[in-house]
Amino acid sequence: AEPPAHASVPQAGDPGLVLLRRVGVVDPESLDDYRANGGYAALREALRLGPAGVIREVLDAGLVGRGGAAFPTGRKWEGTARQPDTPHYVVCNADESEPGTFKDRVIMEGDPFSLIEAMTIAGYANAAQKGYLYIRGEYPRALSLLENAIARARERNLLGRDILGSGFDFDIEIRRGAGAYICGEETAIFNSIEGRRGEPRSKPPFPVERGLFGKPTTINNVETLVNVLPIMLMGGPAYAGIGTGRSTGPKLFCVSGTVRRPGVYELPFGATLRELLDLAGGTPNGAPPRAVLLGGAAGGFVRGDELDIPLTFEGAREAGATLGSGVVLVLDETVDLPAILVRIAAFFRDESCGQCVPCRVGTVRQEEALRRLSQGVGARRTDLTLLRDVGAAMRDASICGLGQTAWNAVESAIDRLGVFATAPATVPAADAPSAAPVAKE
Ligand code: NAI
Ligand code: SF4
Repeated sequence: AEPPAHASVPQAGDPGLVLLRRVGVVDPESLDDYRANGGYAALREALRLGPAGVIREVLDAGLVGRGGAAFPTGRKWEGTARQPDTPHYVVCNADESEPGTFKDRVIMEGDPFSLIEAMTIAGYANAAQKGYLYIRGEYPRALSLLENAIARARERNLLGRDILGSGFDFDIEIRRGAGAYICGEETAIFNSIEGRRGEPRSKPPFPVERGLFGKPTTINNVETLVNVLPIMLMGGPAYAGIGTGRSTGPKLFCVSGTVRRPGVYELPFGATLRELLDLAGGTPNGAPPRAVLLGGAAGGFVRGDELDIPLTFEGAREAGATLGSGVVLVLDETVDLPAILVRIAAFFRDESCGQCVPCRVGTVRQEEALRRLSQGVGARRTDLTLLRDVGAAMRDASICGLGQTAWNAVESAIDRLGVFATAPATVPAADAPSAAPVAKE
């Protein structure tokens, strides 16, 4: 049988690993084991550097967010740290929900203390005394390990008052999500923590100015935060030497689909898609895949003859996709692509919070058109026009990333993979009941 999806263990202990080096090596319940394997050396270094020094190293490292949007982390931290309004908060976004994304889970289950240490450093640099860790409800093992890690850290004065005699106070509270994908959107997380309905807020203002409880807030993804540990230990410039000029550092990739060894793989940015797929054992029959979905449901497809693209944010963009949160979903010739597009559309329709019309209605119309096209019933070529109109309306006029990206994968499948290229041009009007553009509704 194939190993489970989060089986990064074949790589455990590999000296070349940075982010996964303790996963599968340390006892995730033991603070002593964590410290014996280098844990809390980064916090000591951060306390030595001072808050501004920590931010300097993060800026020099060129670290950008690993949740999907690749915003420069140092700029975010600077933005929060300089706000006169208090208190400041740091929030860890552990609501990992992008279909095909399971890297944060591997860190939280395999090396939970690293996230607690990294959040403490973020709190220090951002002048925050309180951190919230917002974890998806479907990760019970990660939750209990993190609860244990926080309790153990408090016992040893690694959380709480006057941490390690530095005069810095910081503590972390965990909040669980309840299964809504939209609650991974940063401002929906704030609403959820505040006890409101989990709906996104309009941006700007950005969280660095007005975030949780209306106060300056830095919110980072799990993988982003744990990258701060090697940055403290090796220094920003040395970290920036890993990867490429514009995509620095190591990256976790979540490989799934028709590959022999699905799992989480760590590679420096700049490795090619082919190298990653070779690590994952290639497709079961050894043939090149038909397509690879990069970046998840909000991402885009590359073709099986494009495997030499470098895995960098800019490389993915040039190939018409996005690296997003590191999803690499491999699809071989046996896969029913139209059915996958319908599934993606149904996912967005299901998960839309319904707050704004372009997304609430657009995701329904998109799914309907895709069902007609994939099942060969009703309107045909006009549905492609309808999909483009609806997609443009969702992209331009939706409040948040869900609606803005809900058409990405469908568009790239049509334009780059030629899905539905053979849809007949003639359409009996009576067969096209839902072909009116969404903007007219
Ligand atoms: P965004 O581009 O709006 O923002 C990215 C980050 O930069 C946010 O924290 C935002 O507050 C900050 N930011 C942007 N401009 C700023 C400015 N001028 N000043 C200060 N801060 C600024 O993207 P968003 O909507 O937060 O995230 C979209 C991404 O999330 C997509 O790439 C998608 O793939 C990914 N995603 C990941 C999921 C996962 O499970 N990891 C789930 C769903 C989406
Ligand atoms: Fe809600 Fe969709 Fe609007 Fe985002 S784009 S606020 S998910 S309705």
